[in-house]
Amino acid sequence: MTAQRVGVVGYGYWGSKHVRVLNGLPDVEVIVIDADPTRLVEAQRVHGPVRVATSLDDCLDDLDAVVVAAPPGAHAALATTALDAGKGVLVEKPLATSVADAEAMVELARTRGACLMVGHTFEYNPAVWKLKEIVDSGELGRILYIDTARLDLGRYQNDCNVIWDLAPHDISIVSYLLDEMPDETAVWARRHVGREHADVAYLRMNFPRRGVSAYVHVSWLDPCKVRRVTVVGERKMAVYNDLSDNERVRIYDIGVDALEPDDVHARPVSYRNGDIVSPYIQFAEPLLVQDTHFVESLRTGRRPATPGERGLDVVRVLASTDDALLPGSGRIETMGTAS
Ligand SMILES: NC(=O)c1ccc[n+]([C@@H]2O[C@H](COP(=O)([O-])OP(=O)(O)OC[C@H]3O[C@@H](n4cnc5c(N)ncnc54)[C@H](O)[C@@H]3O)[C@@H](O)[C@H]2O)c1
Repeated sequence: MTAQRVGVVGYGYWGSKHVRVLNGLPDVEVIVIDADPTRLVEAQRVHGPVRVATSLDDCLDDLDAVVVAAPPGAHAALATTALDAGKGVLVEKPLATSVADAEAMVELARTRGACLMVGHTFEYNPAVWKLKEIVDSGELGRILYIDTARLDLGRYQNDCNVIWDLAPHDISIVSYLLDEMPDETAVWARRHVGREHADVAYLRMNFPRRGVSAYVHVSWLDPCKVRRVTVVGERKMAVYNDLSDNERVRIYDIGVDALEPDDVHARPVSYRNGDIVSPYIQFAEPLLVQDTHFVESLRTGRRPATPGERGLDVVRVLASTDDALLPGSGRIETMGTAS
C-alpha cells in the first residue's frame, strides 16, 4: 500500500495531537505545517526527523490530504486551497466561521470530487456512541430535555467567542443523539474579561421533531472543569461525564411522576428512586478513531461519517446564535407602568 502523505496545518495545542495520532498510523507520512517556525522546531524535537513547512502552499504538491488545525478564522482559506488542488481535507471544528464560507467549502469539495470531513471528535467517542445506544433503546423513556456543561478556566481565543469555540461539541453531540438539527436557538452570552468576545454563554436549542429542548452552558471563566451531558427521560436519566475514567456514562433509575392531587396543598409530583448503573464501555481515543476514519475514507473513497455537510449544519446553528445576540433581540418592552 502506498503511504498517504498528510499535511497537518497548525502545530498548536490540538494540531500537535493530530500529528501524534497520525504519526502512529501505518502507511501515513505526516508533514507538519505551521506559520510559526518555533512550533516547527518543537515538532521536530518531539517527533524526530519529521518533514516541516511554514506554509501549505510550499508543500501542497507533495501532499495527498490535509488536516486543518489552525484557528477557526483560517479554516476556510486553508481548506479552500487544499480542496481546489483536489486534496482530501479534514477540518477541525467549527468547519468555518460563516455559513457562506462553509457552503462554499462543501460545494468546492463536491465539484472537485474531494473528501471533506469535519472534526466533530465527540461523534467518534465510544461513550457518546453508548449514550446514543441508550437513548435509541428507549430505556430512558420519552426524552424530556438535554442539558450540557462545558466549563473550565478555558483557552481564550482571538478569533471567536466561547460559543463558536466550545458549543460545536455540544451541538454535534445533541443533534447526533437526537438524529435531528435544531430549528431555533435562544442565547445569553457575555464578555467578562478581554476586549471582544463573550466568555460565558447559555444556549437553548429547540428540536422540533422530538419536541425536545437542549440547554448548553459553555464557559472559559469557571473554576471547575466540567464536561457533562445529561439526558433526562420520562423513565430514567443518563449522565455522560467525559472526565470520568471508568464511569463515563451512568444511568439513573430515578424520576418524578405528575399527580393530580385533590388537595391543592399536596405536592404535584411523586418521586421514584432506584439503581444507578454504569455500562461497560470499551474506550478508544476519539481523535485516533476519527483520524483513522479520515485516512480510511481517503483510501476507500467512501463518504466519512461527519462530511462537510454535517459541519455546515453545525455552522448554521452557530451563526443563528450570532443573530440571537444582536442588540435589541429579546428586549422586554415595558408598558410604562413602572415609576
Ligand atoms: N476537536 C477538539 O476537541 C478540539 C480541541 C481543541 C481545539 N480544536 C480546534 O483545533 C483548531 C486549533 O486550535 P488550537 O487550540 O490548537 O490553536 P492554537 O492557537 O494552539 O494553535 C494554532 C496553530 O496554528 C498556527 N497557524 C495559524 N494560522 C496558520 C496558517 N495560516 N498556516 C499555518 N499555521 C497557522 C499557529 O501558528 C499555531 O501554532 C481550532 O480550530 C480549534 O477549534 C479542536
